Amino acid sequence: MSKRYFVLLALGIVALGVHAGAAHAQSPGKPGHAAIASAHKLATAAGFETLAAGGNAFDAAVTVAAALSVVEPQSSGIGGGGLFLLHRAADARDVMVDARETAPAAVDAKKYLDAKGDLDQDKSWNGPLAAAIPGEVAGMVWISQHYGKLPLSTSLAPAIRIARDGFQPDSRFLRELASRADVIRRYPAGAALLLENGTAPKAGWTFKNPDLAHTLELVAANGDDGFYRGEFAHRLVDGVKAAGGGWSLQDLDGYRVKEREPLAFDYRGWHIVTASPPSSGGIALAEMLNILSAYDLAKYDSTHRIHFIVEAMRRAYRDRAEYLGDPDYVKMPIERLTGMKYADKLRASIQADKATPSSSLPGYLNPHESTHTTHFSIIDADGNMAGVTQTVNLPFGNGMVVAGTGFVLNNEMDDFALKAGAPNAFGLVGNDANAPKAGHRPLSSMTPSFVIGADRVGVIGTPGGSRIITMVLEGILSFIDGELPAQIVAKPRFHHQYLPDVISAEPHAFSADETRSLEKMGYVVNEGERTWGFMNVVSWDRKTGEMHAAADPRGTSGSGEVK
Ligand code: GLY
Repeated sequence: MSKRYFVLLALGIVALGVHAGAAHAQSPGKPGHAAIASAHKLATAAGFETLAAGGNAFDAAVTVAAALSVVEPQSSGIGGGGLFLLHRAADARDVMVDARETAPAAVDAKKYLDAKGDLDQDKSWNGPLAAAIPGEVAGMVWISQHYGKLPLSTSLAPAIRIARDGFQPDSRFLRELASRADVIRRYPAGAALLLENGTAPKAGWTFKNPDLAHTLELVAANGDDGFYRGEFAHRLVDGVKAAGGGWSLQDLDGYRVKEREPLAFDYRGWHIVTASPPSSGGIALAEMLNILSAYDLAKYDSTHRIHFIVEAMRRAYRDRAEYLGDPDYVKMPIERLTGMKYADKLRASIQADKATPSSSLPGYLNPHESTHTTHFSIIDADGNMAGVTQTVNLPFGNGMVVAGTGFVLNNEMDDFALKAGAPNAFGLVGNDANAPKAGHRPLSSMTPSFVIGADRVGVIGTPGGSRIITMVLEGILSFIDGELPAQIVAKPRFHHQYLPDVISAEPHAFSADETRSLEKMGYVVNEGERTWGFMNVVSWDRKTGEMHAAADPRGTSGSGEVK
């Protein structure tokens, strides 16, 4: 949160403090209660356990991140990475801790091609070549040491306990495990951990993971060294090499998280703090909201509202990832892309009653369609906030577990443009900005965000590959319209990503009248049967003192709670 907004908010709460007698307001500027929403009830409960032990939102973020590694390994885990957006209430500091994975030094783009020179999806999705150097543990350790109040032994304790005692995976976990069983079966340690006699387990299975409990204990006792150095690092490197990959001890030893300035901008009196590169999410979000800022969306009928939102999506997705890559290596025109002058130019091409065919816009970009990742949101009793999106990329990452570690490795190498100048297996058109180079971070869509108004504050995010950004956009617009987290996460979603030139919609996103009107404007509306995303949102109304937390009902075990 910028100092300016923090001061405005603080003044607001002082002025309104007399009315803030609602159950949750305890002292000016502080919620007095905490809200956590995550993709799993055990992870949400673990976060509250850490708060009850005297931890702050950042300790709780470490706990929830680790617990999700245990109970939702199909989406994220210590074999992957994440972006941790933090707001520290004491000094109004916003920071993004970038724990994104990096390419190993031995990366060689040619190894991902088949005999004909085409991208070989099996290599970029499955097994050792697909795995980048994990950042998740370094992120958790960094946050605990620099922002938390508790030792890692306390904040990791709930995850260690759940891993050791076991839990019963939900239907989503089991379905996704079954969908990746063929790959998991290739690697004996993963097959032993995740399958029963070589087949995907059925409902009622208790998943115990003592190896993961032990790995987390090593981190609790030794911090980074427990994972990136010494015996454990040898184990990881040997395991990846034995399977045909090219990790080295130096890759692990050299991994560092980066503290980055989040992307921040204003939209019609609201302040948005969101992910900066190596995510493309914040930039696309800024472009879309800048375009939309000139429309008073509340004044339009629903079809025109959808029309303008879709046209903003179309234009931002054309630019998405065109110029973007690892900010440590790639010079990016961020100021231009997120500036109002640029948005004015893009807006000028939007017609009032007509779709703009994507083919009439210059440039070409097909987005990546990865759907596995997780997001959780936290506000603590002091007003500290954490919005964390973390991932192993595809379900169960690369499908491979190194013996004795207890976690799948990511397949984040596929987020690079592995074959320059040609669409990759997902349809991503690559360029040099996102080329796979030693030590580089692959471009991401993860968009953890804070929405800050004079009275209301929200933490929002979701998994969903390229759809993350449009989901976060729609969530932010709903929040600004006054909707509560439970309404925001349940709302049907629509999405346009420049190409293919169609509006994808969840069931019941549009009424029959809206669809007809959109088609008359020239849109192709594809209302599918499937839903997408797993949005988890918390909010705090500084005026009334109310806090809310909600997990997406599309997920099976999500939980949002205020305590
Ligand atoms: N691996 C998905 C993302 O970072 O966007």
